[in-house]
Amino acid sequence: MQTDHDSAYESDNSQATNTTSIPTDILDGQRQYGRRYHRYRQSTYLIPDDEIQQSCLDLFHCYCTALLGGKHYLAPVPEQSDRVLDLGCGTGTWAVQVADDHPNWQVTGIDLSPIQPTWVPPNLTFVLDDMEDHWTHGEPFDFIHSRQTGGSVKNWPELIQQCYANLKNLGWIEFQELDYSHQALEGVAEEKSLVRLADTLTMKAFRALGRELSVGGEIQGWLENKGFVNVQHRVFKVPLGPWPCDMRLVSVPAPPAVLTIKSQQKVIGDLRLCEYREGLEGLVLKPFVYGLGWSSENVREFVKQVCDEADNQKFPLWCQFHIVFGQKVI
Ligand SMILES: C[S@@+](CC[C@H](N)C(=O)[O-])C[C@H]1O[C@@H](n2cnc3c(N)ncnc32)[C@H](O)[C@@H]1O
Repeated sequence: MQTDHDSAYESDNSQATNTTSIPTDILDGQRQYGRRYHRYRQSTYLIPDDEIQQSCLDLFHCYCTALLGGKHYLAPVPEQSDRVLDLGCGTGTWAVQVADDHPNWQVTGIDLSPIQPTWVPPNLTFVLDDMEDHWTHGEPFDFIHSRQTGGSVKNWPELIQQCYANLKNLGWIEFQELDYSHQALEGVAEEKSLVRLADTLTMKAFRALGRELSVGGEIQGWLENKGFVNVQHRVFKVPLGPWPCDMRLVSVPAPPAVLTIKSQQKVIGDLRLCEYREGLEGLVLKPFVYGLGWSSENVREFVKQVCDEADNQKFPLWCQFHIVFGQKVI
């Protein structure tokens, strides 16, 4: 576990008694194919952590919050809770907002990349750490949250076991995961949609490298198998682009999906398209090269064609955003 005292990174959740600086080479990351990747536990994560990818994470945060009507989680976490953990916190937007909203909670965000802001609420600590390592967080938590770590985690049952072991009795866990497989409103065949072809190839590439990308539909079973109770699974629809202005998304019969109102869907679709366009290269570059044996030039050419199709709004595509939460009761 590496920490940077000067930039508000603390060594543990108990108010930093043994901080160390993050070495410059870790802060600088590792350059490959013109992108920057994390250097701490190098190659554990396949997606860059540079400014392009960080801005995608911020867009992602915006539409997730819009989908949840301004909330940051759906688990009924009591206000009198104390310790909260955000696994794979990315740019830290979720953790900052939760710490701001709940000044009495002690929030810890962990990530492999030191890409979080330095000015943070006093009740928030960021730690450079690998969530798949053996945890050394000390006291158990009241609430553990993780968003969009599909494609990161190699051993989900093991991670969920560590979460269970590090939650207090009556504590809550929540996962939020966007699927990478788009569905077509009007039954567009996969071979006709480059976006859908890209989905299939991306999942195949991640799988070849030992990671499942779209895990939202699996989490409920994993939580229940581990012994979590009061497990709930909610599904939201995320359009790729502003096409829902014509309300067609409302007609998709897929309960228990939750539908937002028309204008929100349009804004969410816009944000999602922006994030998709900006983020696709980073998502697929390393996985296609290492997992599928493509050249980086071919990946870039393919990405351009896929993004052109998405931009043109040729097909009304959407995907699912899963929220799954459960409680530890002993
Ligand atoms: C798709 S991003 C999601 C970031 C953030 N949760 C959000 O919703 O904006 C996944 C994050 O998980 C981090 N990550 C991946 N594998 C990790 C690991 N083994 N331990 C800690 N963080 C990890 C990555 O560095 C990245 O910041």
